[in-house]
Amino acid sequence: MSKLNIALVGAGRRGSGAHLPVIVKLKDIYNLVAVCDIDEEAATRYAKQYGATPYTNVRDLIAHEDLDVVDITVPGVAHHAVACFMADAGVHILCETPIAVTLPTTDLMIERAKANNVKLEIAENYYRAPRERFLSKVIEADVIGEVARIYRIFYEGGYHGMSMLRLRAGGEPTSALGITQTTPVIPIIDRMKRHHTSERWSLGFIEFDNNATALMVYSNVIHARSLGRGQTGISQIDGSKGTIVGEDIYVTPADELESGAKGIAYRPTRTTIDVDGVDVIENISLELPDQTVTWENPLKNYPLSEGQIAVADELLSIATAVLNDTEPEYGAALARQDQEMNIAMSESGNRSKETITFPLTALTETERGTHESYQQQHGHPIEDVEAGIDTFFPRR
Ligand SMILES: NC(=O)c1ccc[n+]([C@@H]2O[C@H](COP(=O)([O-])OP(=O)(O)OC[C@H]3O[C@@H](n4cnc5c(N)ncnc54)[C@H](O)[C@@H]3O)[C@@H](O)[C@H]2O)c1
Repeated sequence: MSKLNIALVGAGRRGSGAHLPVIVKLKDIYNLVAVCDIDEEAATRYAKQYGATPYTNVRDLIAHEDLDVVDITVPGVAHHAVACFMADAGVHILCETPIAVTLPTTDLMIERAKANNVKLEIAENYYRAPRERFLSKVIEADVIGEVARIYRIFYEGGYHGMSMLRLRAGGEPTSALGITQTTPVIPIIDRMKRHHTSERWSLGFIEFDNNATALMVYSNVIHARSLGRGQTGISQIDGSKGTIVGEDIYVTPADELESGAKGIAYRPTRTTIDVDGVDVIENISLELPDQTVTWENPLKNYPLSEGQIAVADELLSIATAVLNDTEPEYGAALARQDQEMNIAMSESGNRSKETITFPLTALTETERGTHESYQQQHGHPIEDVEAGIDTFFPRR
């Protein structure tokens, strides 16, 4: 199998910290040819570190390199611009989350990928984490019965949160209710070097067409784990015959169903193996009285830490789609749906808790605001892809 030529565009926190170290571990699949960043220092530093060629704009990158795949890790407002440009150049795309900041810019990206017959995968990483892949197996094996409610309190929010709620509900979202509140905090810089001067808090309640519901509480400060916020999260999935609380799986013994129906907690075990000096997760397994549920790590031959597995999974998803001419696992349609849910929640909060129903059929005020502030800040309309690729999008 010939290797795919890949370039990373946007060597910032996510690109340099999470993507580049994983790309170079997938040596049998990818050949990292270039690192592109509008910030020359970043482009040069990471290109040198990983033995690739530096570029400071995507036009030069495309003019000089023969790329199969591009990994886009520029800020979210720039995703559609870089992705549309790359699609026009016939390069397959893995793009960081969210797919794009609004639905019109998302649709622009999807249309251009389709028109140019290029594959488009979005780097949604939460459901790909080993723990979540394992819990998906537990739910599929009917251990807790039909999922009724999902609580994710003080965990991830935004499109990541929506993605997890949709996955766990196993249905199509029908409506979203959002409550938002913004309060001041003393100026802080979090562990990921993000700056915060206010706490943008939200509560989301989503209904699904299979009667499941989901509740999420989130804020930027909770996500940052700063100021003591969100130090203990609640992740609970209530099913018709059991519950998952964090990693504990509660099931009730048959002979106790009529005498309290108290659930007994079972905890999965992790097996690890050594690969080139890295402690690699081999499987996660749950022994129950009547069955064993096991998730096997399909990437166990690579020296990947547990945190790197989701990123490797995304990179493999786009590689498999390109090599076999199939669709990527998550893909643009689900990414669009997760962003639609995220936008609906904000819109509901902005409209004083009005319940929003799916699908969204018109441009929301939330998106109009995003488009307007983009134009004000950058001096061109958000749909202007040519101007977008030459714009420096600073760190927030
Ligand atoms: N999946 C996750 O868990 C996760 C976590 C963090 C960030 N992200 C996503 O990753 C992306 C990057 O976030 P970040 O925190 O690394 O941002 P960042 O600001 O640290 O890095 C972005 C990089 O893009 C470069 N850049 C800006 N405009 C450019 C242009 N026109 N052409 C080329 N390079 C340009 C910047 O110089 C910078 O180095 C965002 O989409 C963000 O939402 C995802």
